[in-house]
Amino acid sequence: MPKTILITSFKGGVGKSTAAANLASKLARAGKRTLLCDLDFDLGTLDLITGCEDRLLFDICDAVYGRREVEDCTVKFTSNPNLFLLGAPFKCTDTIEPDDFAQRLKNLFTGYDYVILDTPGADSVTLAVGAKCADEAIVVATHNPTSIRGAEKTAQRLRENGIPCKLLINCFDGRSVSESKRAGMLDMIDATKTPLLGVVPYDRTLMFAQEKGVLAETDAFVSSKAFDNIVQRILCSETGERPRPVLYGVSGIKRKKVLTK
Ligand SMILES: Nc1ncnc2c1ncn2[C@@H]1O[C@H](COP(=O)(O)OP(=O)(O)OP(=O)(O)O)[C@@H](O)[C@H]1O
Ligand SMILES: [Mg+2]
Repeated sequence: MPKTILITSFKGGVGKSTAAANLASKLARAGKRTLLCDLDFDLGTLDLITGCEDRLLFDICDAVYGRREVEDCTVKFTSNPNLFLLGAPFKCTDTIEPDDFAQRLKNLFTGYDYVILDTPGADSVTLAVGAKCADEAIVVATHNPTSIRGAEKTAQRLRENGIPCKLLINCFDGRSVSESKRAGMLDMIDATKTPLLGVVPYDRTLMFAQEKGVLAETDAFVSSKAFDNIVQRILCSETGERPRPVLYGVSGIKRKKVLTK
């Protein structure tokens, strides 16, 4: 069975879908057959972020409940042949029972190395589904105090359910930390009581590219190296490599000044 990673936070707008899409894409580029699942029902953003909204004819619920063949519901990417997407329904008319849905969904994971689950920014039935499928979780937080509290509560809930959590700090702004205006890395690890997996800097280029369905795949994006580092740190449990420092190769951040405000 694949390793299944839940990307989550009770707080909305912190970059969960951005992280899910970019990490899945980078895992696929690293040669891992990767399935990206959009559990943000009735909204769904992964088809937009990955630039395939015109190809999403059937969704994850059609696949789970067997209304369509899984192959017809799964978007494939010719530019990244190891990446696959099960998109969210635009309007979910099914009554989702988390145990049943999770069991059916897990049956679709055969043949993949990694499954990345993106969740909505609230405590929801699909988060419960994701938690039932996941081996581990990445909890996303920005410097914002409400997002830090959201990450703390989310990680606490997941840990109570036996799911190990790691923290992904997104939209990191080193300058505001060194000016003591915003929480630093250690402050955020401390507040969320969650070990750090990675740090993705604030990346204006990514924000605009994402609106056109383009992922952070080249050095034109300051966040690209950060996503590479996170993927390396995910994979090092199987490769036996030493985990890279979180800011390895990430330009524009003065390391010693960003730990605490
Ligand atoms: N590192 C980053 N730098 C700059 N902008 C970012 C970064 N990460 C995400 N964003 C932007 O933040 C916005 C919210 O991102 P995203 O949709 O991924 O958040 P989310 O947590 O999935 O939101 P929701 O809770 O609504 O599902 C988007 O406009 C996205 O482009
Ligand atoms: Mg989202």
